[in-house]
Amino acid sequence: MAEKGILAFSGGLDTSVVVRYLQEEHGLDVITVTVDVGQNESPETIETKAMDLGVKRHYHIDARTEFATDYVVQAIKANALYQNKYCLATALARPLIAEKVLEIAEKENVSALAHGCTGKGNDQVRFDLTLRSGSDLPIIAPIRDKNLDRTAELEYAQKHGIAIDTVAKKYSIDQNLWGRAIEGGTLEDPYSEPPDDAFVWVRTGDLPDKPTYINISFENGIPTDVDGLGMKGPRQIIEHLNTRAGAVGVGIVDHIEDRIVGLKSREVYETPAASCLIEAHSDLEKMVHTSYTNKFKRMVDTEWAHLVYSGLWQEPLRRCLDGFIDKSQEPVTGTVRLKLYKGNVRVVGRRSPNSLYDPKRSTYGAGSTFDQRLSTGFVELWGMQLTEANKLQEKRSTKT
Ligand code: ARG
Repeated sequence: MAEKGILAFSGGLDTSVVVRYLQEEHGLDVITVTVDVGQNESPETIETKAMDLGVKRHYHIDARTEFATDYVVQAIKANALYQNKYCLATALARPLIAEKVLEIAEKENVSALAHGCTGKGNDQVRFDLTLRSGSDLPIIAPIRDKNLDRTAELEYAQKHGIAIDTVAKKYSIDQNLWGRAIEGGTLEDPYSEPPDDAFVWVRTGDLPDKPTYINISFENGIPTDVDGLGMKGPRQIIEHLNTRAGAVGVGIVDHIEDRIVGLKSREVYETPAASCLIEAHSDLEKMVHTSYTNKFKRMVDTEWAHLVYSGLWQEPLRRCLDGFIDKSQEPVTGTVRLKLYKGNVRVVGRRSPNSLYDPKRSTYGAGSTFDQRLSTGFVELWGMQLTEANKLQEKRSTKT
């Protein structure tokens, strides 16, 4: 009996080539695993593709709710935006996919782990490091190891009887319920505007002339409802917001991204739900946290996003940061009101039982409970050192 190799399989060119490669060059029986995190592709179509390639067994795992609850919610709590822009959709999904592969690898008693990532991207790091954290089995990554480009892959596919879609794909897409990443094609010219046909979730023309208002409720940092509709959980909220915000043009992100391997890339994303949820969540935090927590958490958030982007989901520091992040979410309960208009999203209202904002104290009107006279002494002490330092500097410069 041949030994077995396991592969996270999408049905695309890369992973199809890897199936055949494992069979031909390594003599392995191949087990394929497709983890559904909201790619929106039919499980039957992918299974047929796997079977047509002669795999020994194919697994389909619906991990959409788990992805939303255990991965995306943590990213919301962390206001996670890599380089202030990218909501980490792909980056968050990879550790989950690799963990599912490991579970089945054990059950199937395989002797090799494989993936279809290139040596240029971030996903190789994310897959390798999650697989490594749970297994010592060899990792086979043929696209990377053989330095294959698209043309070489197409040639290999043709030579080995792999059926591939004849329509040349315009872009390289990776999508899940947290976002849709669009790369390649004309987007590789960083000065050229992404054509409308790159966008599937976000409407780019004929946007409504009336604004849309959305009220998002949070409990301990977790989104719990939208407009009092009685949402079942984070997954439903994300799916709902992707549709509603996307329909009014909200959620397009276009930026230059620093990849882990040192390359720069032009990345275009559609992230309507993420754009609304992170805007709303970070606004609510500012209302309930002290200025010190606000300032410190920004640093933690930035570091968290950097670790997750960089394939370091398993890094102990990430778990330490999660400890801080979770504790910080205790008062993050309330409702934020968003106004969406012609592709723009803006917070126009927020309220919380834990609000530190006191209108009676902050008001410029009559009857404020804040005694301004106390500020005179405060300002003097606050600036004591800088006043002294500047006086001394003045003395030194007049001497010379
Ligand atoms: N740059 C993003 C990341 O590294 C998205 C990559 C998406 N991949 C793709 N084939 N379009 O997380």
